[in-house]
Amino acid sequence: MSRANVVSRLLSVAALLPALAGCGAGDSEVGVEAGNAGSVSAMVETTDPGDGATGRAGAAQPVYGFGTAATESQIAAWDIDIGPDGAGLPPGRGSVAEGLDVWVRHRCILCHGPTGREGPNDIITGRIPGDEFPFANDRSLRSTVGNYWPYATTLFDYTRRAMPFDLPGTMTDEEVYAVVGAMLYFNDLLPADAVVDSAMVVDTRMPARDRFVPDNRTGGPTIR
Ligand code: HEC
Repeated sequence: MSRANVVSRLLSVAALLPALAGCGAGDSEVGVEAGNAGSVSAMVETTDPGDGATGRAGAAQPVYGFGTAATESQIAAWDIDIGPDGAGLPPGRGSVAEGLDVWVRHRCILCHGPTGREGPNDIITGRIPGDEFPFANDRSLRSTVGNYWPYATTLFDYTRRAMPFDLPGTMTDEEVYAVVGAMLYFNDLLPADAVVDSAMVVDTRMPARDRFVPDNRTGGPTIR
C-alpha cells in the first residue's frame, strides 16, 4: 500500500470516529469523547509525558492488560532442569536392554551410530586409557560422554531436553532412563543387565568427575 493510501485510510478512520461516538460507542476503548481525531493524538501523547515518572522509560508497569498468569502445570512443563546432585530427577526406571531398543526406535542410531562411536553426529562412546584427560594438550581429541561428561545426571537432563535432535521431548521419562543406561553401557560404565533409576544416575561415577571444579566465582579480576 502506498504512503498516500495509508494516509487516506487513516483519515477515513478518523472521520468515522465521531460517528461511532455518536452511536453510543463513546465509552469504548477508543475513548474519543470530544468526537475529533485531535483527541486521539492527545491521548497517545499522554502515555509518554517525558518526565520519566510514568512513561515507557519510567517505573515498571505491573499490568500490561494482556496475557494470563501461567498455571502451575504450565510452569511444571518447563521446569525440567536437573542439578548435578540429581535434584529434579523424575520417578521412573529403565533397563539397558530397553535402552538399546530406544536407541533404535528413537533413531539415536541414525545420527550417533550403532554403538555411539560411528557418528555421523557427536561421538557418544569412548574412554581414554587410564581415564586420562589430555584435552588441554591435544585439541584434536574428541570428547565423549565417557571421557568428558562429569555427571550422569547432566546426561539425563541433556538427553531429555535436547534429544532426539529433531524431535526433542518425545521420549517418556522411562525411555530417557533406559537410553541413558544404554549410553553408560556403551562406555563400560554399567553392565548389560543394569536397570537405571534416579539413584543409579546419581551414584554412577563418571570418569571425568574430578576434572572439573564448580565455578563459584562471584566477581573480581578473574571474571572477564
Ligand atoms: C537427527 C540427528 C540426531 C538424532 C536422531 C539424535 N541425535 Fe543426539 N545429537 C545430534 C547432534 C547434531 C548433536 C550435537 C548437538 C549440539 O552440539 O548442540 C547431538 C548430541 C547428543 C549428545 C551430546 C554429545 C556430546 O558429548 O556433546 C547426546 C548425549 C545425544 N546426542 C544423545 C542422543 C540420544 C540418546 C538420541 C536418541 C534418543 C539422539 N541423541 C538422537 C543429533 C542427533
